[in-house]
Amino acid sequence: MNQPVMGGIATVNAPSYVKQQKLINWVTEIAALTKPERIYWCDGSQEEYDRLCAEMVAAGTLKKLNEAKRPNSYLACSDPSDVARVEDRTYICSAKQEDAGPTNNWVAPAEMRVTLNGLFDGCMRGRTMYVVPFSMGPLGSPIAHIGVELSDSPYVAVNMRIMTRMGKAVYDVLGTDGDFVPCVHTVGKPLARGEQDVPWPCNDTKYIVHYPETREIWSFGSGYGGNALLGKKCFALRIASTMGRDQGWLAEHMLILGVESPEGKKHYVAAAFPSACGKTNFAMLIPPKAFNGWKVTTIGDDIAWIKPGADGRLYAINPEAGYFGVAPGTNANSNANCMASLNANTIFTNVALTDDGDVWWEGMTKEAPAHLIDWQGKDWTPEIAKETGRKAAHPNARFTVAATQNPVIDPAWDDPAGVPISAFIFGGRRSTTVPLVTEARNWVEGVYMAATMGSETTAAAAGQQGVVRRDPFAMLPFMGYNMSDYFQHWLNIGKKVAASPAEMPKIFCVNWFRTDENGKFVWPGFGDNMRVLKWMLDRIEGNAGGSEHIFGVTPRYEDLQWEGIDFTREQFDRITSIDKAAWEAELKLHEELFDKLKYHLPSELESTKAQLEKRLAA
Ligand code: GTP
Ligand code: SPV
Ligand code: MN
Repeated sequence: MNQPVMGGIATVNAPSYVKQQKLINWVTEIAALTKPERIYWCDGSQEEYDRLCAEMVAAGTLKKLNEAKRPNSYLACSDPSDVARVEDRTYICSAKQEDAGPTNNWVAPAEMRVTLNGLFDGCMRGRTMYVVPFSMGPLGSPIAHIGVELSDSPYVAVNMRIMTRMGKAVYDVLGTDGDFVPCVHTVGKPLARGEQDVPWPCNDTKYIVHYPETREIWSFGSGYGGNALLGKKCFALRIASTMGRDQGWLAEHMLILGVESPEGKKHYVAAAFPSACGKTNFAMLIPPKAFNGWKVTTIGDDIAWIKPGADGRLYAINPEAGYFGVAPGTNANSNANCMASLNANTIFTNVALTDDGDVWWEGMTKEAPAHLIDWQGKDWTPEIAKETGRKAAHPNARFTVAATQNPVIDPAWDDPAGVPISAFIFGGRRSTTVPLVTEARNWVEGVYMAATMGSETTAAAAGQQGVVRRDPFAMLPFMGYNMSDYFQHWLNIGKKVAASPAEMPKIFCVNWFRTDENGKFVWPGFGDNMRVLKWMLDRIEGNAGGSEHIFGVTPRYEDLQWEGIDFTREQFDRITSIDKAAWEAELKLHEELFDKLKYHLPSELESTKAQLEKRLAA
């Protein structure tokens, strides 16, 4: 396997600023295995970004958008078979199967290495291997961690420059003996001599593999999102969650936002919603007009690393530097901040192209343009859509944009110290059963609510959509170790905060997605979620009412501020009512989950469930 790099295959030629022999040896070893035509060391400069984009335009991977309408922006359209994360092809290869747990795919590391060695042998033939050094978290900060991704996809290289702190400066931090997480990525489509490439190379065989003990990531066959941008879900969630378990901190699928009252009182909250369930939108929320003087600012929109501080409070940072956000549904009314972020310097993937060289997606404007080229390169008109149901943009179409383009970025967004968290919010996409908002009465009940959360599946992952599944802490696809051990870790963190002088963060559960008999959302959502957020802050400050029910505390109609919206008591009841039969069925699903997670399931969660059942039966 590890033969020296032979004639016709690239030489490593590390630039002089790369000082670490271990890194150079690893690049040499991976090049010997994957056999790229050439190796390119990314420096992270603008000049390099522009050049790689221009090369991809020439190759047909990117289209340059109309410079006057969308400066320095591009559209990429993927292969129709490569449009989302592939959860059934994602593996946690820990030494022991019980450390991956029943919610993860597991293969013994030695066996997986044999499989991957076969697949990766010669997989980069005819291509360039990009060496992409990146930092998750501010460069050089004590909470940041470094990774190096070797990828044969220039699309990955340019996206990583937006999503992470990518470039030359990482090598200064790494020095001669710093640690990094090695990430190997290939689209899995070697080119024979003279073979014409396709715009979006990929392979029907896909493997997204993590070795938690050795902290390695190997990804084969996909060029899309979390499958390929390995700093994101693979590193910052799956690998980082195991680092957090070992070192006493948390890596979570959470947005972080700041919210400041007109009196200048500021809180930070972190919220976990499953994929495509509203994190980016909540993180950039624009309060309704009636909330004059309230300000919401963004720390992060997808991932939070949370560590106990010296004062006992929990401090959160956003390890990312950009947003890889859902395009469909985003518009000037639902999220004007997001739309403003996308004005320039953006890579769009799988949205539609307008006749004047701009982008469009479902929900962007009330009326669709008369003609588009859809994400698969076909002519699209509203009439065709009506007849065939064909979407102009793929439902998991995304934008990649630097966090600094967000007009409401929080001044502390890249403060290495992080921001103190006053509340955790957990939310799923549920058309029935789950009320608008519930406050847990204590930490254990909050952990129970998060652990048993259900959500309807979305287009963010390949597979059936709209099916309710348990998605504990919105982490089901992102857990790097045993889910029950993770619940215990949350309980332990709670005990640690409780033993400190710091106040416990409150835990809330929300659901923006209850529907009426016509399948329409009852709650207006988006900016109006501020009404719920304000109630939470008032509860934290101890000056809002609520009524206690079997699961916790919910606001009464009069506890929310309704100025500027026509939302009746009847509508409110519709989305806050608790249906006994539905909850009996729901608790059966909790039971199924707990049966599955029996190994190491914390007893506190089982006793919490028993209490709920008792209250429900009463
Ligand atoms: P990932 O990037 O996959 O982790 O998703 P996310 O949680 O950041 O979801 P995002 O904010 O991108 O929203 C996904 C979809 O839900 C978009 O189509 C939004 O328009 C829609 N959405 C977001 N917030 C709300 C809301 O409050 N109400 C309703 N009805 N839809 C929402
Ligand atoms: C998600 O699916 O939760 C995402 C998009 O944030 S991806 O990076 O593809 O995982
Ligand atoms: Mn996500």
